[in-house]
Amino acid sequence: MTVSLENIKIISSGQRRILYDAALLEHPDESLFCPGPELMVEKTAAIGRGEPIFYQYQGHDLVLKQYLRGGMVASLLGDRYFGLNPEQTRAFKEFRLLHQLQALNLPAPVPVAASAEHAGLFFRAALITLEIAHAWTLADQLMLSAADDSTWQAVGRCIRQFHDHDVYHADLNARNILLSDNKVYLIDFDKGAFRYLGESWKASNLARLKRSLLKFKSRNQTFYFDENNWKQLLQGYSAA
Ligand SMILES: Nc1ncnc2c1ncn2[C@@H]1O[C@H](COP(=O)(O)OP(=O)(O)O)[C@@H](O)[C@H]1O
Ligand SMILES: [Mg+2]
Repeated sequence: MTVSLENIKIISSGQRRILYDAALLEHPDESLFCPGPELMVEKTAAIGRGEPIFYQYQGHDLVLKQYLRGGMVASLLGDRYFGLNPEQTRAFKEFRLLHQLQALNLPAPVPVAASAEHAGLFFRAALITLEIAHAWTLADQLMLSAADDSTWQAVGRCIRQFHDHDVYHADLNARNILLSDNKVYLIDFDKGAFRYLGESWKASNLARLKRSLLKFKSRNQTFYFDENNWKQLLQGYSAA
């Protein structure tokens, strides 16, 4: 498969390496990754770590996410990662995968920039995508009200599109599925990859999503998910 890389550039700014799409941004600098409050859009929750930041830059509506390390080392390392090659950071990898997904016309976020910041032996990494407008997660939707059959089928069709291109999503759950104006998107391709060997991972991927939906249901007082919804999702998946 060939993907045009001609607009993808890498620059250094301070301690930072920035990978970006020059078709979308002109001469970005570090301020791209440190938006002031005046650029932020209201829905940006507290500017806490781990929360996405919504803001405007060079006329685009953007979403910035920082990569946080979970588990025990989190408190020691925060969002810094071992390693010296920026291409090995989760941000650069997710950017490059999203770029390939765009070339395949798959409904995933458009990558704008990724950054890896040197701090001694560590990297601090971040990814910026174009905001998918008027979107909310499938999880948020189901906490409020039931989704109709056609929505569940559309979710199934969407997942199938990715699987038909051998795209593996490492964390398929109801928070990583966005609904927007009747369109369905998959987001959060951290640790995702093209997977050409075998087919069994596709069924495991679906099984994981179902487990996640059941878990949401068990943990929330209201969460609209039942066997018929799953049947509709599978119908969309199979019909695609
Ligand atoms: N391109 C986008 N458009 C709209 N919302 C987004 C976009 N990317 C991320 N978000 C929002 O930010 C949240 C976190 O982003 P995500 O990529 O899932 O990172 P993580 O789960 O690792 O924090 C998502 O659940 C979604 O609500
Ligand atoms: Mg996520």
